[in-house]
Amino acid sequence: MLTVRAPATSANLGSGFDVFGVALGTPADVVRVERAPETTISVTGTGSQYIPEDPKANTVGAVAEALDAPARIRIDKGVRPSSGLGSSAASAAAAAVALNELYDRGLSRKELVPIAAEGEALVSGEAHSDNVAPSILGGFTIVTDDGITQVDASLPVVACLPETTVSTRNARRVVPQEAPMGDVVDTVGHAATLAVGMTRDDPDLVGRGMADAIVTPKRTALIDGYDRVREAALAAGATGVTVSGAGPGVLAVCHRTDQPAVAAAMIDAFDDAGIESRAYQTTVAKGAQIC
Ligand code: HSE
Repeated sequence: MLTVRAPATSANLGSGFDVFGVALGTPADVVRVERAPETTISVTGTGSQYIPEDPKANTVGAVAEALDAPARIRIDKGVRPSSGLGSSAASAAAAAVALNELYDRGLSRKELVPIAAEGEALVSGEAHSDNVAPSILGGFTIVTDDGITQVDASLPVVACLPETTVSTRNARRVVPQEAPMGDVVDTVGHAATLAVGMTRDDPDLVGRGMADAIVTPKRTALIDGYDRVREAALAAGATGVTVSGAGPGVLAVCHRTDQPAVAAAMIDAFDDAGIESRAYQTTVAKGAQIC
């Protein structure tokens, strides 16, 4: 028997749509695996009632098949599904790391990323690595067609999750197919600023680099209360605020001393919009760990 904890993640970070991602210290999924003649899956924890246990319909079942690693798999969900924190990616990442070890497949962490992404495609409709890469590798990741770049980082963040859901499929429908060159130029500048900020664990640079005029404004329209939550977080000291992944989670970057005030401001602002929420005060953190 083997147990792996894989963290929630936040993809995009505003300017890095489908490219940037970070691993978060909390929450996380825990996956236990043991060899079995065929794969069976059981799911407990937050939102488990929404997750199919049929291996053909579950991200983790697809990972077991891709690794030719049949197992009895128990998933304890800490990352709420459809929250914008890479819930299916966390399960897929944990399963990939666990089954690779259980069956001694010898794949590197980077080699496990596309395998876990295929599993996630079952849920989102497309294979994105921008959540599975940070969940497996940790820190800040840049995923492009040419490969994955990873740097360790430990920046303070607040991830605020409203009690609403946005499906990734719907959030992808609103992404524009074209953008004005001026917005593209701005976004390249912001993305570069953010990447440098991550290498320095600098909340000011990262916050400034989160600005995005192309995808984020389309997505915020799907999140009730977003504008007031963003304003409240900035007023409380956040250096940058954006949609986490496909939403509805909202990610704020800040200095450590401002974290409690930013978290409280975000919860209060959602509350003012009539929406309950919870906030994780955490940091950019390590990837999946064998327990
Ligand atoms: N980059 C993806 C998106 C993350 O924003 O749609 C969710 O899988």
